[in-house]
Parts: sequence; C-alpha cells; structure tokens
Amino acid sequence: MSDILIDVRHLKQWFPIRTGFFSSTPLKAVDDVNFTIKKGETLGLVGESGCGKTTVARSMLQLYKPTAGEVYFDGTLISKDNIHALRREMQMVFQDPYSSLNPRMTVGDIVGEPLDVHKLYANRQERKERIEELISLVGLNSEHTRRYAHEFSGGQRQRIGIARALAVNPQFIACDESVSALDVSIQAQILNMFRDLQEKLGLSYLFIAHDILVVNHMSDRVAVMYLGKIIETADTEEINGHPVHPYTVSLLSAVPVPDPRSARERKRIILQGDVPSPLKVPSGCAFRTRCPYATEQCAAETPPLVDRGGGHLVACWNR
Ligand SMILES: Nc1ncnc2c1ncn2[C@@H]1O[C@H](COP(=O)(O)OP(=O)(O)O)[C@@H](O)[C@H]1O
Ligand SMILES: [Mg+2]
Repeated sequence: MSDILIDVRHLKQWFPIRTGFFSSTPLKAVDDVNFTIKKGETLGLVGESGCGKTTVARSMLQLYKPTAGEVYFDGTLISKDNIHALRREMQMVFQDPYSSLNPRMTVGDIVGEPLDVHKLYANRQERKERIEELISLVGLNSEHTRRYAHEFSGGQRQRIGIARALAVNPQFIACDESVSALDVSIQAQILNMFRDLQEKLGLSYLFIAHDILVVNHMSDRVAVMYLGKIIETADTEEINGHPVHPYTVSLLSAVPVPDPRSARERKRIILQGDVPSPLKVPSGCAFRTRCPYATEQCAAETPPLVDRGGGHLVACWNR
C-alpha cells in the first residue's frame, strides 16, 4: 500500500483559441504539471490569477478532458470507464458560494442531492439523518435544512457547499479559492473548519489560492505556478524560509514579516509589469521577462523542475 493518494503526471490542458477564420492557437493553461498528494496531506497551489490553478483542478478531476497526461487515484489510472465511481472520492469546493448553490433549493435538498444521485440511503429517514449529520459536521444546525441558500451569509453558504461535497464521503477535496470571497475573520473560521474536517475524516486537499498567506496557513507542501507550469515546490516551512525561484521570492516579498530583523535579512523582489498573455508565453523560462536575473540561456531553454535536495524542486537556471 502506498501513502500517495493523488499522482498527477505530465498534465496538459491546452485550449484552442480561434485567431482567424481558419486558424487557432493553443492557450496552454496547464503545461506539463506534475505533483503527488499523500493521504491526509494538503498541497497548496498558489500563483497570480490566470496562471492555471483552476484548470489544474478541473482537469485532474476530469471536468475537462486533459489534452495529455495521467492522473492516478490511490494507484488507479483515472479513465472514462471508472470516472463515475471515482467522482465520489474526489470533490471540489468552489470560490463563490453565491453562484454554486441553487437559490431555489432548500439547504436540505442541496446537501441531499449528491445522496440522491449516488443512491446513498435506504429510506427517507436515513436520508434525513445523513443530511442532519452533514449539516452539523460543518457547524450548522438541523433547523437550517428547511431554509434556502440565499438566506445565509457568505461563510454559511461556504459551509453548505462543503457539506454538499462531503455528502459522498470523499477522500480528496480540491478547494479552489474557497475562502477568497470571504471577510478575513470569516476566512479564519472556514480555514479552521477545513483543518478539523481533515483530522476527523482523514481528507487530502489540493488547496488553491492566489494569496500565499492563506496557502501557507493550510498546506503541508506548497507548489507555485506561473503561466501554466509549477516553478517551485517544497515543504511549507522550507519554501517560506528558503524560497529559491525569483517568482516565489516576489510572492513572499509582499507578505509582511512580524520580526523586523528577519524582514531585513530576507531577499526581496518587487515584480515589474504584468503577467504576459498565456497566448504569447515567452520562450525558454516564461518568467524571464519579469526576472531581475534573466540571462540569454533563460530565453533559449526552458529550465526543468529539479530537486535541489529534500524534495525542494526549483525550475531556474540562475538561482
Ligand atoms: N474553458 C476555457 N477556455 C479557454 N481558455 C480558458 C478556459 N478556462 C481557462 N482558460 C484560460 O486559461 C488560463 C488559466 O485560467 P485559470 O485556470 O482559471 O487560472 P487561475 O485559476 O490560476 O486564475 C487563463 O488564461 C484563462 O483565461
Ligand atoms: Mg482560479
């Protein structure tokens, strides 16, 4: 038995974008992404908006058919023959609790729908009990089940979304910007709940956010994405203490440090310019157009993601 639950290999998701009447060009939203997630572990995925985080989650869960690559769940290659059964094991919680919940359904029916779809109860009583169990698992009470989603606050709606994801008893949840739309105080409550649920239910998470503080708070390991590729990954403490890739350093440069001495010692890079269009990814290292250390080699060759020791992987020619 392996302790690896999710194994993503050479995942690519290229969207054809029409550029003319007869021509199209591929938008390489995800371009050769590799990672594993152990049982009970949280992998954080961070990067600026548009770098491909959501597409990684949707492609690995086969909500889009990947252009290339394989995803293994607990040692089984996911294919169209087993995806229906595996959907129960892998769930996704989205950013926007407002648009992902049907306002015309009661909370009980929202949470009960996956139970219906997968026929996870023997009778009405069992269905009702399971819904109440799920509702209390996310910190709401049974009287909430008769109310409609629009009657709830953002944080409560996110709890309802999580209860719905948990209904099928999954082993893995991809949390895509699941707290990004919430106030900071509410964010903390929901993040703590994710952690409690992980402990209680032995869940594994892919925890996606553009905010590296949120990702750090939640993750055992962090992967940093830039224009469709992972450019650095390491244990959370390691990547925070010893970031190597200039892009990771720039993300961390924006984070306030409580201790002024360590703040002074820390390398800082303030990024110039915007992310290039994913339709015109720079040759070689995609980050080179914004990188203070870029050389000719960076324009000529794409740096591979190489282990610098202890599972700290970096894709950079110069650092
Ligand atoms: N269905 C789609 N068709 C075409 N382009 C898409 C599609 N989904 C995402 N993209 C593009 O892929 C890139 C990555 O998007 P996304 O995965 O949503 O990034 P992130 O979640 O990091 O903000 C963006 O340039 C986005 O416009
Ligand atoms: Mg996204």
